[in-house]
Amino acid sequence: MHLAAALLGALAFCGPSLGLQNASLPSIPSSPPENSSFSLDRALFSFSIEFAYLDSFTGNGSAPNELTRSLMAQLEQRTGVGPDVRPGGITIDSSIFNRNAPPLTLSMSSSGGIYRTTFGPGLYEFLNVFPNSTKFVASVNLGNATVSIARDEAAAWIEHISADRIRAFELGNEADHYGGGSRPTGWSSADYTATFLGWTAFLKRNLSLPDNAFQAGSFADDPIKGEDFTTANIIAEGVLDSNSVMLFNQHMYQYSTCDPARNAIATLPNLVNHTNITAFVNEFVPQVQAANAVGKNFVVGEFSSVSCSGKQNVTDTYGQALWLADTMLYSASVNIKRMYLHQGATLVFQSSTQANAPGFSWYDLWYPTETERYGSARASPSFVAALLVAEAVGSSGKAKISSVPIPNAPDLAAYAVWDSGELSRIALLNLGHRNVSSAPDEAAVAVDLSGVATSGATVKRMTGLGMDSKDTDGTKWAGQSFTNGTATGDEVIEEPENGNVVIVNGSEGVIVFL
Ligand SMILES: *[C@@H]1O[C@H](CO)[C@@H](O)[C@H](O)[C@H]1NC(C)=O
Ligand SMILES: *[C@@H]1O[C@H](CO)[C@@H](O)[C@H](O)[C@H]1NC(C)=O
Ligand SMILES: *[C@@H]1O[C@H](CO)[C@@H](O)[C@H](O)[C@H]1NC(C)=O
Ligand SMILES: *[C@@H]1O[C@H](CO)[C@@H](O)[C@H](O)[C@H]1NC(C)=O
Ligand SMILES: *[C@@H]1O[C@H](CO)[C@@H](O)[C@H](O)[C@H]1NC(C)=O
Ligand SMILES: *[C@@H]1O[C@H](CO)[C@@H](O)[C@H](O)[C@H]1NC(C)=O
Ligand SMILES: *[C@@H]1O[C@H](CO)[C@@H](O)[C@H](O)[C@H]1NC(C)=O
Ligand SMILES: *[C@@H]1O[C@H](CO)[C@@H](O)[C@H](O)[C@H]1NC(C)=O
Ligand SMILES: *[C@@H]1O[C@H](CO)[C@@H](O)[C@H](O)[C@H]1NC(C)=O
Ligand SMILES: *[C@@H]1O[C@H](CO)[C@@H](O)[C@H](O)[C@H]1NC(C)=O
Ligand SMILES: *[C@@H]1O[C@H](CO)[C@@H](O)[C@H](O)[C@H]1NC(C)=O
Ligand SMILES: *[C@@H]1O[C@H](CO)[C@@H](O)[C@H](O)[C@H]1NC(C)=O
Repeated sequence: MHLAAALLGALAFCGPSLGLQNASLPSIPSSPPENSSFSLDRALFSFSIEFAYLDSFTGNGSAPNELTRSLMAQLEQRTGVGPDVRPGGITIDSSIFNRNAPPLTLSMSSSGGIYRTTFGPGLYEFLNVFPNSTKFVASVNLGNATVSIARDEAAAWIEHISADRIRAFELGNEADHYGGGSRPTGWSSADYTATFLGWTAFLKRNLSLPDNAFQAGSFADDPIKGEDFTTANIIAEGVLDSNSVMLFNQHMYQYSTCDPARNAIATLPNLVNHTNITAFVNEFVPQVQAANAVGKNFVVGEFSSVSCSGKQNVTDTYGQALWLADTMLYSASVNIKRMYLHQGATLVFQSSTQANAPGFSWYDLWYPTETERYGSARASPSFVAALLVAEAVGSSGKAKISSVPIPNAPDLAAYAVWDSGELSRIALLNLGHRNVSSAPDEAAVAVDLSGVATSGATVKRMTGLGMDSKDTDGTKWAGQSFTNGTATGDEVIEEPENGNVVIVNGSEGVIVFL
């Protein structure tokens, strides 16, 4: 007994212990290989905020939301720029600008559905809560087939936000869902392309916009199985012909609670799964390549794990942080430039068969105000993923990333980051499942870094009480929690054991800084 304890103690100091799964990083080139990503955009981690609920997240000009301000500042501190913000989503397509109107007014049905969002110049003061380095996607109404509504909205953006802070203009949201609603049944990608060409030509002339000021696409449906509305199809249909496309974007939701069939498979174990995540993101690679082939970037203009506002006990857990970090780093490795994580609240009109009742979405990265659903305003348990991703990207604007498969550890996602030409960081995400009720070493992996580690390597760790935990205080990045937007607790910077082994417990992630 005594001897065994002594032996275990000794093992803990001289290498991986017996119960652990072992994994070795393959050797990784010291400079970025040909097939690493383009330079990472420092705003890789960006946000989309449902237009009708913008003020819930931002506050207003006289009372900005301090939690939102603090959380966004955490990102800016790490990357040197604020995240992009896209006030958009389904409700942009029933929005109207009126220069005499108050900042934001919702017209609602008796069931709580929003059929119109009217906004005035005061709305632009909401945006002061974001860092000055934040750029905005100026989304305008395409759902209402009246181009003057879009014109007046674009003109309002130009009047109130300086041109260098407008990333791109965007026409409408998820136009692939317009057929049989705001457009005739049979509405196709060719109809979208023709409309895009006509409207952008008019807006460019009317508002003296420069060439290539718009992001095209913004489609909802996954680009698989003969899907008509894709980046590749609209390029083939001539969407570049009005010289108005800056970049392409599509939306990405791996799971859904919009109907019972999809709700059934939107489970936490299915979400927290590297094999599932990479297979899903890979469906978008042909669209990224189609955009890149015509010299344009591809971004994911709106996304989260589960559409129709997420799922209780799934997307409001720390497991969402693992899903988010892996989805974003893997997407970056296949040249998706930025990703706009959607924030909002349940939309009654989105689906008549959805699982969710009204209230802040279950996937929101933070709960900006006190509510009955969530209690006090605070960061969600998945917020720490934003810090991990921001530190993986860094602040140079010259980092490149590759995914590094580890065949004998399929639940361990590994990413190499070369910064300014040199191998600089390794992100390791252990998507093995450890719940609150699990043993602490459930699914733990000892990762041998001898292929890459140099002396002086340091480690920062993302952890939580378990993948099913909703306790934000228990979620940590480098030893600190960020529940109210500021770092609480002492920062913990670790060193690899023996200089070359890092233990990543189940449902944890680390960055090794070389
Ligand atoms: C992990 O490696 C250690 C030391 O190299 C070894 O003793 C142990 O058996 C290995 N564990 C597994 C599960 O292979
Ligand atoms: C990149 O190329 C290397 C060397 O050819 C190869 O081993 C690796 O699997 C490739 N990585 C990706 C992500 O394609
Ligand atoms: C701004 O928000 C605060 C807090 O919700 C509210 O009291 C105030 O009336 C709002 N101001 C305007 C101009 O709407
Ligand atoms: C968070 O808490 C700290 C310490 O109590 C306080 O200094 C800070 O102002 C709070 N931040 C927010 C956004 O409430
Ligand atoms: C952002 O810009 C505004 C207006 O130029 C200025 O008042 C404010 O101090 C700036 N904020 C920061 C954090 O630099
Ligand atoms: C389009 O806008 C007009 C003018 O404001 C409005 O009357 C109409 O209801 C809108 N249509 C839809 C489908 O929202
Ligand atoms: C732009 O369009 C509006 C109508 O939507 C019109 O009143 C205005 O004269 C146009 N301006 C230019 C420069 O074409
Ligand atoms: C995802 O992973 C689970 C294992 O947890 C598997 O059973 C499931 O079929 C996978 N696929 C999807 C689409 O969730
Ligand atoms: C989530 O968990 C809570 C507490 O266990 C439970 O009351 C609730 O019904 C669960 N929600 C769903 C959608 O499963
Ligand atoms: C992830 O899903 C794959 C199938 O897609 C399965 O083989 C694997 O065991 C799952 N991993 C976990 C941790 O459940
Ligand atoms: C973890 O919790 C989830 C959600 O409650 C459950 O579906 C899963 O089976 C649990 N996994 C483990 C390894 O305990
Ligand atoms: C990982 O699990 C071990 C138990 O195997 C525990 O001692 C350790 O504190 C855990 N590490 C972290 C960072 O939670």
